[in-house]
Formats: sequence, C-alpha cells, structure tokens
Amino acid sequence: MPGGVRCSRAASPVLCPGGWPHSLLELASRCNGFNPPPNQGPDPSLVYRPDVDPDVAKDKGSFRNYTSGPLLDRVLATYKLMHTRQTVDFVRKKHAQFGGFSYKKMTIMEAVDMLDGLVDESDPDVDFPNSFHAFQTAEGIRKAHPDKDWFHLVGLLHDLGKVLALAGEPQWAVVGDTFPVGCRPQASVVFCDSTFQDNPDLQDPLYSTELGMYQPHCGLENVLMSWGHDEYMYQMMKFNKFSLPPEAFYMIRFHSFYPWHTGGDYRQLCSARDLAMLPWVREFNKFDLYTKCPDLPDVDDLRPYYQGLIDKYCPGVLRW
Ligand SMILES: [Fe+2]
Repeated sequence: MPGGVRCSRAASPVLCPGGWPHSLLELASRCNGFNPPPNQGPDPSLVYRPDVDPDVAKDKGSFRNYTSGPLLDRVLATYKLMHTRQTVDFVRKKHAQFGGFSYKKMTIMEAVDMLDGLVDESDPDVDFPNSFHAFQTAEGIRKAHPDKDWFHLVGLLHDLGKVLALAGEPQWAVVGDTFPVGCRPQASVVFCDSTFQDNPDLQDPLYSTELGMYQPHCGLENVLMSWGHDEYMYQMMKFNKFSLPPEAFYMIRFHSFYPWHTGGDYRQLCSARDLAMLPWVREFNKFDLYTKCPDLPDVDDLRPYYQGLIDKYCPGVLRW
C-alpha cells in the first residue's frame, strides 16, 4: 500500500471494538509485567498490522478471534514495550551480545523443531506447532515459484530467528514489526502515536528528526533496525556463510519491516538497491501472511525435500 498508512487507520482495527486503553504503560504492567515470558502472548507480527485492508482484516478477524480484550491488550503491551525500549543503544548492545553466535550449535532442522516450543497456548487458533507455519510458507512459495528452490528455503528459514525467544529474550525484542532506530518513527509504524513517548531516543536532538543519524538514501543496509528475529537471522546467515542469493538474505532481513515494504514510509533512507529489492520482499510477504490455515502440511513427507535444500545451501551444524 504505497503512500503511507496513517496511524489513525491503525487505531481502528476489527481487533479492538472497545477502544484504546487510557494508559498503555499501565496496561503493559497489568497485562504482562515489563518482561513478559518469551512464550507468552501472540506474535504481534501475526496478530496486528497497520496496513491491513479492511476486507482482509474482516476475513482475518473471522480467522482469528481477537475481538475480546486480553489478547489485544497483550499485543498493545508488547508494542508499548518495544517502542519504549528499542533504542540505538539497546540495538547496538544486542548486536554485540548475539553477534558472536555462541548461543548454540545446531542444524537448520533442529532449529525448526526447536521453534515448536514457541506454540502459544493463549492463541485460540494456533493449536499446532510453530514449525507448520514455516513449512506452509515454504510450500506456498514452492507452488508459485517451482523453479526457485532457494526461495522455497527462504520460507522455511524466515522465522528461525525466533529461537531468540528460547534464549530468554523478551517478545518485544524478538517478534513484531520492525522499524529503524536512530530517527523519528514514521506514521505507518503500528501504534506510533501512542507508544513512543517514553522512548529516550526521541528526546535526543540527533535521533528525533526524520533522517535522524542517517544520510539521505544511505541504504537500508546502513540503517540500524530495531532488534528482533529478522536482523538476528540475517546476521546468522551471513556468519555461517549461507550460499543463498542476495535476495534471500534481503527478504529475511526486512520481512517484518511493514512500515517500509507495505506502509510506504522511510523512502528517504532507501538506496536504488532497496527499491530494486522491494518487489522481492513483497512477493515473500504474500506467503508469510495468513498462512496459518487449518490445511496443515504433512511435515514428515516434506522433510526430505527441504533437507535437500538445506544440504545444498546451509548444510551441517551451524552456529546460532
Ligand atoms: Fe517473521
């Protein structure tokens, strides 16, 4: 949806018929505490989007019932925490903390299986393991792009960075839409009007302008994104020298950057390369959204095919 989506639109989802809570901070502490356990609550990136087309939102609403309070509260609370605590300083610390990839050694399939530990018991519609989403996304891509085996693998890999949650990281530093830190959040960032007021960076004269600490059209590769599973997985793939094409790295790195790829914001930071990559990110996104349908893949049947892709592009025991 080019041209940007305003926050006012974000603030009228089917998810919240009762209106917004008066104090999100109060809500955050009441709902989750300030450090919600990693397995608690829905992944906000799958529950709430600022860009959702009303018709799609309606379908989505019937698909996942978030018309009642607690789940939406938790999503809001997660974004409030994220938008308060994701700062330039925080993101740099996370890069330093995880950039050595000394958390764990495991294969891709072990990580896929490990993500099953992330099944959200409070989510009314997700009563199947998280890895099904990975296989469903991959299979959707495979059907539409049979000739691009590397793209199929992107579907399987794209959320594996969520192992961060199993390393004890809070949800607001793992899931949800991403945004650049070091500059003022733009209008299509979800809940942007109501969740950033306590972020210390916005009191900083350098970080609080539209360009912030960046040069015009510096390229997203030079932008510090909020920390989460996208950036972690991208760095992990680079560290372990995956032999996938640049498009694959790019799609995984920016798949949750909704304010950019769907909201149409942050164009002032984009280089020509970013604009060339945008159609890839959008193409990937078609398969990532709303794939949690009851039509569950037979994972055991699919494993050999994907193991073959893993052996081709990212074999063996990897460092996480
Ligand atoms: Fe994701």
